[in-house]
Amino acid sequence: MARRRLKLVVTVIVMVNFFIFIIISRHGGRDKAGRRRALVPSRPFWARLVPDPAYCNRQQQILDLRNNRVLAANYSGAELPDWLNDTHLTSDPCRPNLRVTTQVKDYNSLPERFKDFLVFMHCRSYPVLVDQPDLCREPPFLLLAVKSLAPHFDRRQAIRQSWGRAGAVANRTVVTVFLLGEAAPGDHHPDLSGMLRYESARHRDLVQWDYRDSFFNLTVKEVLFLEWVQARCAGARFVFKGDDDVFVNTYRILDFLGGLSAPRARDLFVGDVITDAGPHRDKKVKYFIPESLFTGAYPAYAGGGGYLYSGDLAARLRDASRRVALYPIDDVYTGMCLRKLGLAPEKHKGFRTFNIEEKYRSNPCAYHSLMLVHPRTPQEMIQIWAWLSSPDLKCQ
Ligand SMILES: *[C@@H]1O[C@H](CO)[C@@H](O)[C@H](O)[C@H]1NC(C)=O
Ligand SMILES: *[C@@H]1O[C@H](CO)[C@@H](O)[C@H](O)[C@H]1NC(C)=O
Ligand SMILES: *[C@@H]1O[C@H](CO)[C@@H](O)[C@H](O)[C@H]1NC(C)=O
Ligand SMILES: *[C@@H]1O[C@H](CO)[C@@H](O)[C@H](O)[C@H]1NC(C)=O
Repeated sequence: MARRRLKLVVTVIVMVNFFIFIIISRHGGRDKAGRRRALVPSRPFWARLVPDPAYCNRQQQILDLRNNRVLAANYSGAELPDWLNDTHLTSDPCRPNLRVTTQVKDYNSLPERFKDFLVFMHCRSYPVLVDQPDLCREPPFLLLAVKSLAPHFDRRQAIRQSWGRAGAVANRTVVTVFLLGEAAPGDHHPDLSGMLRYESARHRDLVQWDYRDSFFNLTVKEVLFLEWVQARCAGARFVFKGDDDVFVNTYRILDFLGGLSAPRARDLFVGDVITDAGPHRDKKVKYFIPESLFTGAYPAYAGGGGYLYSGDLAARLRDASRRVALYPIDDVYTGMCLRKLGLAPEKHKGFRTFNIEEKYRSNPCAYHSLMLVHPRTPQEMIQIWAWLSSPDLKCQ
């Protein structure tokens, strides 16, 4: 009985499709003599590009035009309007771009960090000062990449002694790398280069680039890291990227990764996902963005405290990042790159970038099923890791 009904349904679907096919083939594509003819839209079906008043949006329009051959062909030669012909992009992008001082209308009244960002916004490559070319000689199952700052010696050491313990955890190879920029003397930072040299020689887990390590340059760190992974660790099956003040339950993460189906693993990007957000317009907020810089909504993005993705996706993110204009907030930028790929990050409740309830914080079992908690001090990291590593720990 069920089988006959199924047969009937299939027959009806096939017939409906056949009629649709006949209707389409009668109404389009052929002239009276039955020859194929091209369907020409009666008017342009792309709106003419008009310059967006916000500078980052406009830079994205320029990049989109360059990367879309159909659109670019429409702008052949001399008819390229001035705003789309940003010659700075094609010459040396790492020279300071002083044209922004007139292109951003309220440039002079912006806080210094915005001026610094804008003048170097087109520069994406900085020299490597410290590298670890052999770090992934044996491709790891999981690469833990930690955004750190030069003076944070204690945080790095706590991570090495706890959740970032390199080697084999739960029978999986784990490699940890710390990502650093420069604590520039121009910003009155003490000279820590000798101590970093020692640390690097001893642990061989630092990668440092020659750019100023500031909040708005975290996007530079992201882009440099994506390039670095392809050059030095392309075989990593999974990548975790996060801050040096989080606790990561590496056991739980390995357990989670081990249970993924192949298609799910391929496109994996999980974290504490923020949706329906947009730029803060309150000048006092750390994440304030003026309207002259960006307008519009943010894509869904995973909070920069820490997120987890596949090595396969790391390669695609690298390619996408070359087509996405830099944005001063790094996790939003990564969301933009994902959107470029037609993907969205997935929320996982094990990522607690806004901490857990106070009453549970000293309960070892509270950490058992979590993947990430923010923030934690170096001492807390070591304490929690000891709890989770104890064979006596019995949790539900
Ligand atoms: C492409 O060129 C045509 C003809 O010059 C013009 O009408 C149309 O607006 C252009 N399209 C865009 C996206 O600029
Ligand atoms: C872009 O501008 C430069 C000078 O500003 C000019 O020499 C060049 O011809 C322009 N290119 C196009 C495609 O319009
Ligand atoms: C560890 O991994 C090796 C090789 O993949 C496997 O043969 C072995 O059974 C694993 N051991 C455990 C305890 O899972
Ligand atoms: C980013 O780094 C570059 C290179 O050191 C520097 O010139 C620029 O001012 C920095 N940008 C910010 C926002 O700190």
